Amino acid sequence: MSTSQRPRVFVSRRLFQETLDLIAQHADMDVFDRSGSPSSEELVARTTGCAGLIAQGTDKVDAQFLDQLPDLRVVCNVAVGYNNIDVAAARERKIVVTNTPDVLNEACAALTWGLILGVTRRLGEGERILRAGKWKGFQLDFLLGMDLVGKTIGVIGMGRIGQAVAAKAAAFGMRTVYMKSPRRPDEQIVGPDGVPYEGLSFEEVMQRSDVITLHVPLSPQTHHLVNRDSIRLMKPTAYLVNMARGPVVEEAAVVSALENGWIAGAALDVYELEPVVHPGLMKFDSAFLIPHLGSATRETRTAMCNLAARNLIEVLGGRPPVTAIPG
Ligand code: DGY
Repeated sequence: MSTSQRPRVFVSRRLFQETLDLIAQHADMDVFDRSGSPSSEELVARTTGCAGLIAQGTDKVDAQFLDQLPDLRVVCNVAVGYNNIDVAAARERKIVVTNTPDVLNEACAALTWGLILGVTRRLGEGERILRAGKWKGFQLDFLLGMDLVGKTIGVIGMGRIGQAVAAKAAAFGMRTVYMKSPRRPDEQIVGPDGVPYEGLSFEEVMQRSDVITLHVPLSPQTHHLVNRDSIRLMKPTAYLVNMARGPVVEEAAVVSALENGWIAGAALDVYELEPVVHPGLMKFDSAFLIPHLGSATRETRTAMCNLAARNLIEVLGGRPPVTAIPG
C-alpha cells in the first residue's frame, strides 16, 4: 500500500510494541502515550480524520462522539466487555465495532479463583497482619476461613468466562449451579466431564450457593442485579465475587450486607465508579479488593492488543473483522 493510501488510526493508550509494529504495517498511527487516559475532547480531536480507533473499556464511544467523526469506519475495543460503546449508534452509522473475546477467558477464570481463595481463606487480612509485624506465630484458631470442598459455586453469567470458571470447580471438589440465560432457558451447559451443570433461576442460584461468582456483561438488565433485595437471598455464610463489571453490583448494598452479617464476605475486581471504591468497603476485612486485574497477564494483554489490531487491519482492508460484536 502506498503511503498516500494508508488509513489513519488513533490508538487511545500505549500498547505493546509488537502490536504497534503490526498496525504500522497497515496504517499511519497516532498513539496516546502519556499515562492515564485521553479526555473526551482529546479523544475526539485525535480521532478526527481517522478511519480506525483502538479504544479501551473506559473510552466513551456514544452517538454524540461518533457524530463528530464522519471518517470513522471501525472501533476496536481492547476488552471483551463493550458497555462503553453504543453499538446500535455505531451500526446506524455503518461503523464496525469489535471486542477481544476468548483470549482472556483463562486469565479471568484463574483470577476468579484467586478472588474466591482470597476471600474464603482471608489472604488479604493475613498479609496485612504479617506486613504490619502483628503476627504472633501459629495459632489453631487464627484467621479461619471456609473449605471449598463439598460446597456449591453459583455462576451468574455462564458465558465463556463463566464456563472457564466452572470447569475448574470440580478440582476444588465443588458442585456447580448456574443462572439459566433468560434468552435461552432450554439450553443445557455441559461440564468438561460431559455432565450437564444444574441451571436455575437467578433467585435459586443466589439462595443455594456458598460462593456466587458474577460474569454477566453490563447492560440495563444487569445493572445493580445484586442489590439490597437480591443480596438478602444469599446465605449468611456465602461469599460474593464480582469479576464482571462494577455496576452489576450495588456497592452500598454490599457494605450493608457486610455490616449486618447478611453475607460472609465479598471479593471484588471491579467497581461502580472506577478508580473510586466505596469507602465503606475499605472498613471490612471480609472484603477482598483488587484493582481491575481480571485479564492482567503479559500474555493475555498482548493477545488482546494483537487481536484488536488484527480486527482493525481486517476492517480497514475491506474484510470482515475476526471478532465482531454479535448483533
Ligand atoms: C474486559 O476485557 O472487559 C476486561 O475487563 C478488561 O480487563
